[in-house]
Amino acid sequence: MAPTSQPFLPTMSDEKTLRPTFVRPEDERPKVAYNQFSHDIPIISLAGIESDRRPTVREAVAAACEDWGIFQVVDHGVDASLIAQMIQLSKEFFALPPEDKLRFDMSGGKRGGFIVSSHLQGEAVQDWREIVTYFSYPVRSRDYSRWPDKPEGWKEVVEKYSEELMGLACRLLGVLSESLGLETEALAKACVDMDQKVVVNFYPKCPQPDMTLGLKRHTDPGTITLLLQDQVGGLQATKDGGETWITVEPIDGAFVVNLGDHGHYLSNGRFKNADHQAVVNSDCSRLSIATFQNPAPDAIVYPLKLAGGEKSILDEPITFPEMYRRKMSRDLQLARLKKIAQEQKLH
Ligand code: SIN
Ligand code: FE2
Repeated sequence: MAPTSQPFLPTMSDEKTLRPTFVRPEDERPKVAYNQFSHDIPIISLAGIESDRRPTVREAVAAACEDWGIFQVVDHGVDASLIAQMIQLSKEFFALPPEDKLRFDMSGGKRGGFIVSSHLQGEAVQDWREIVTYFSYPVRSRDYSRWPDKPEGWKEVVEKYSEELMGLACRLLGVLSESLGLETEALAKACVDMDQKVVVNFYPKCPQPDMTLGLKRHTDPGTITLLLQDQVGGLQATKDGGETWITVEPIDGAFVVNLGDHGHYLSNGRFKNADHQAVVNSDCSRLSIATFQNPAPDAIVYPLKLAGGEKSILDEPITFPEMYRRKMSRDLQLARLKKIAQEQKLH
């Protein structure tokens, strides 16, 4: 196990019980097993998206965003061997000794690197995951001093992967723009110079998975997210902010796509931003790679089109950082109110 001077790394742990900092309040604990798979969210083939099948794909993608805000795509055009390499190298990174990972420790506010994550800054309960994250677009934001230098080949594979996923995100935003009655580039243009941030999640085997989460319930703040997951399972989503969770069935080589808050606001709420979370298990570890397509910091958040008489779900146009600040302060406020309610219950 890691020496005590280092942060606690779940990957390195052989403890039989959870540390208290990972124990979730009862109402946040998993309700559905990591491998109790559901077939409820749509699976869409993107074959022919740039040719004969475009209208069919457009309708299916728009319907999935209106209904769930989360779906899976196959035949998406991203090279299968690149996907396999990305998963393999990511697993190798997390298997490195702690000192190799901690050379990229990003605690203390560094942009990119390795960390044992907590969902919200300042939140008491930690997520049962380790992450490595990097900024890949715009290209000038690539700070290679924060990108792992091991395993060998990481940088080349990651750069190619980032480029292919930027392309896939733009293809999806293109059909979504058209389904809003806008020009194909409208949603991408609303992001100004679109940012891309990749978070590689490693959820180690967990001694008490019923009491904790790999990643707490949330919506993504950005425009659209593309998630690659291995075959273990653990991503759960709920419809319309409800309490009925489904576990997304892993499909080899598929991407799970979900709209974030920015995409939700740009469509004036027509496209949903699904609540999701990651659960862990005591059988094996799990890997997922989330590619977040976000607007540039100076992009304006406001519905792109309002039909005659339609009211905007946002009172005023705001910048993306301001949208994020309001989201975080709402979340913190809710967490505080919950803590007060729990304390009152105890007395
Ligand atoms: C995420 O929401 O960023 C990751 C979810 C997952 O690992 O399944
Ligand atoms: Fe997410």
